[in-house]
Amino acid sequence: MIGLGYVGLPLSVEFAKAGFRVTGFEVDPKRVRTLNRGESHIQDVPARDVRELVRRGLFHATLDFDELRQMDVIDICVPTPLRKTKDPDVSFIVAAVSEIAARLRRGQLVVLESTTYPGTTEELLRPMLERGGFSCGKDFFLAFSPERVDPGNPTYHTRNIPKVVGGVTSDCTSIATALYAAVMDKVVPVSSPQVAEMVKLLENTFRSVNIGLVNEIALLSDKLGLDVWEVIDAAATKPFGFMPFYPGPGLGGHCIPIDPFYLSWKARQSGFEARFIELAGQVNGNMPFHVAGRVREALNARRQAIRGSRILVLGVAYKPEINDVRESPALDLIEILEREGALVDYCDPYVPSLNYGGRPRRSKPFRPATLRAPDCVVIITPHRVFDFGLVARHARSIVDSRNALKGKRRRGVYRL
Ligand SMILES: NC(=O)c1ccc[n+]([C@@H]2O[C@H](COP(=O)([O-])OP(=O)(O)OC[C@H]3O[C@@H](n4cnc5c(N)ncnc54)[C@H](O)[C@@H]3O)[C@@H](O)[C@H]2O)c1
Repeated sequence: MIGLGYVGLPLSVEFAKAGFRVTGFEVDPKRVRTLNRGESHIQDVPARDVRELVRRGLFHATLDFDELRQMDVIDICVPTPLRKTKDPDVSFIVAAVSEIAARLRRGQLVVLESTTYPGTTEELLRPMLERGGFSCGKDFFLAFSPERVDPGNPTYHTRNIPKVVGGVTSDCTSIATALYAAVMDKVVPVSSPQVAEMVKLLENTFRSVNIGLVNEIALLSDKLGLDVWEVIDAAATKPFGFMPFYPGPGLGGHCIPIDPFYLSWKARQSGFEARFIELAGQVNGNMPFHVAGRVREALNARRQAIRGSRILVLGVAYKPEINDVRESPALDLIEILEREGALVDYCDPYVPSLNYGGRPRRSKPFRPATLRAPDCVVIITPHRVFDFGLVARHARSIVDSRNALKGKRRRGVYRL
């Protein structure tokens, strides 16, 4: 397994539990050290599982890529971020594949799991791996299989999420399918790596566009004096043809805000303009500014300006019950408010400390005094551990971007 993050570590553990001997290749020495000590940096992976697998010799992490020579299967789970220009940054994939190419041996199966644009496996990986004279589908095997893990999801995890697999040749697909069938409940073979790459981007674009739509409906409902949450709940009673999505302070995480831009970039390369994707990106990207506008209104009602006011952001993780702050809209909001002169604190029991905006911060404890102190409390992440009754009782004014105070009536609450 190359890359032991949110995707690579759970997958490693699943393979090791099924009896495979898994070696995790990392570039982060701290991760290698802690994993080999039996610790876990991923919330969904219990440390006792890692400890037990290390003890039984089924899993170890390493910085030494020479060990790649001994592997039968090499699974790539490295990050695929965007550049500042919103173009794909596949440099992590290129770095990992260079390590493989330098050591490739006959019979190995290489699978890319990192989310990327359609064509990456065939156009980028295959030539790199064939450079040494090996032929794909004959000397080695190559496939793409998108990772669909949903951190913090209590129902669906690595094993019971169906696994889509597309190989460069039919033998590549069959071998990769056999591998995943050993650890996943269901494998879904498709006709090519491009199809498998596109599947993942369709899934995440579907979410981004629908969230963009419902965010726009929220802004419109506000203008019309309607409660968007009531509208959605009632619409969701329709037993067919409607699927509820909910508005919020913006998109977060390593997937939904980023992946659709991999597709729009590829579209541009082909002379096609992916308008839904760009529009959803704009609407969703504007939501933190909209929430900041609500804070302005809440303070204005108390005859206060943003400059010099104290604001508490409740929840900084990008979704409930997880500790991941990557691309979290809470960070955008903190930046917007601080730029306008607000004094911003945060409270998130999942994120005890946060390095953001050039300074280290510590979470405030969740208790009445923390809620009473600021001029405004902004609810960003509705973790279940937050008692919103307590928030409603103690906060001076509240901006609720998640309908967390549903059913709790009081003055001074500003919703999305
Ligand atoms: N996080 C999710 O929920 C999720 C879900 C589905 C798909 N994905 C996709 O999976 C991929 C990985 O995402 P993630 O969330 O696991 O990222 P992550 O940042 O949590 O983990 C990536 C790991 O790869 C390591 N790494 C970077 N370059 C490396 C290299 N050259 N060799 C070895 N290790 C290297 C990093 O040190 C890090 O530990 C991305 O393409 C992402 O879009 C993520």
